[in-house]
Amino acid sequence: MTHVIITGGSSGIGLALASLYAVRGARLSLIARSRDPLELAARKLVAKYGARAEDIHIETADVAREEAIDSAIGRCVEALGPCDVLVTSAGVVEPAPFEDMSSAAFRRQMETNFSGTVHAVRAVYPDMARRRTGHIVMISSGSGLIGIYGYTSYCASKFALRGFAEALRSEARCHGVGVSVSFPPDTETPQFEREIAERPREASVVMGAVRPWSAEAVARKIVKGVEGKRFEIYFGLTLFLLGRFGPAVRPLVDWWFDRAIARSRGR
Ligand SMILES: NC(=O)c1ccc[n+]([C@@H]2O[C@H](COP(=O)([O-])OP(=O)(O)OC[C@H]3O[C@@H](n4cnc5c(N)ncnc54)[C@H](OP(=O)(O)O)[C@@H]3O)[C@@H](O)[C@H]2O)c1
Repeated sequence: MTHVIITGGSSGIGLALASLYAVRGARLSLIARSRDPLELAARKLVAKYGARAEDIHIETADVAREEAIDSAIGRCVEALGPCDVLVTSAGVVEPAPFEDMSSAAFRRQMETNFSGTVHAVRAVYPDMARRRTGHIVMISSGSGLIGIYGYTSYCASKFALRGFAEALRSEARCHGVGVSVSFPPDTETPQFEREIAERPREASVVMGAVRPWSAEAVARKIVKGVEGKRFEIYFGLTLFLLGRFGPAVRPLVDWWFDRAIARSRGR
């Protein structure tokens, strides 16, 4: 039986992925910092998605702390067996113009979104490579494809994930291990609700009034991408084009964004 480990599995996209894998009969390990939402998520997977209680394991750990996440993943493996699929969904966003963002907030986003992913991958990769099987799915963002006003740290962390995933993909395939990186758009989750309240006006202007995706729809596309062994997982035509042709259209996008921001400031 497949063992799927999901960081950030107690909420949002991570929990939606857990629900899909539960329906497919997978064993599931969910990791996050707070215990109560993890317990709630585990109960929901049993009651609503038909998972067996003994096939679900929860661990509290901060992905930014390498030793903590390494030990937590070690306990997941002890409980439910070797990891077949790792999903790194744990992430935070704290939008603010760079000059207003504390260095602690900047670091928190880099250390959770980027380093936290690297730590989780490091905890499963050697065993996957030794067993010559397994798949790693990183959750980047549309903000990993284009720089957005007010998102200096978040964009940097999500762009970095793409570089990490690209390099790791080329190494991992020599060991029979798959790697995917996904770039979700705005998605209805607790994180999105918090973020939208803090989003700078300039960012709202350039992002436009696009309806957010549901976490379930994003999760379905990710699972389909993993099953199809796709490296990049895009959502919608705009993000696909940005992902594939971003550098070529960059000057045009910058021009359009700059004009929209200037207008929103009455210049
Ligand atoms: N929602 C969007 O619009 C959107 C768009 C593109 C990409 N994404 C990305 O998708 C991923 C999931 O986001 P979401 O919207 O589903 O957020 P969410 O509903 O807030 O869920 C985030 C999950 O990550 C956990 N988490 C946060 N910091 C952690 C840490 N340091 N260590 C361990 N676990 C941690 C949270 O639990 P605890 O707080 O208990 O730790 C929670 O389980 C993130 O990487 C996000 O950047 C989201």
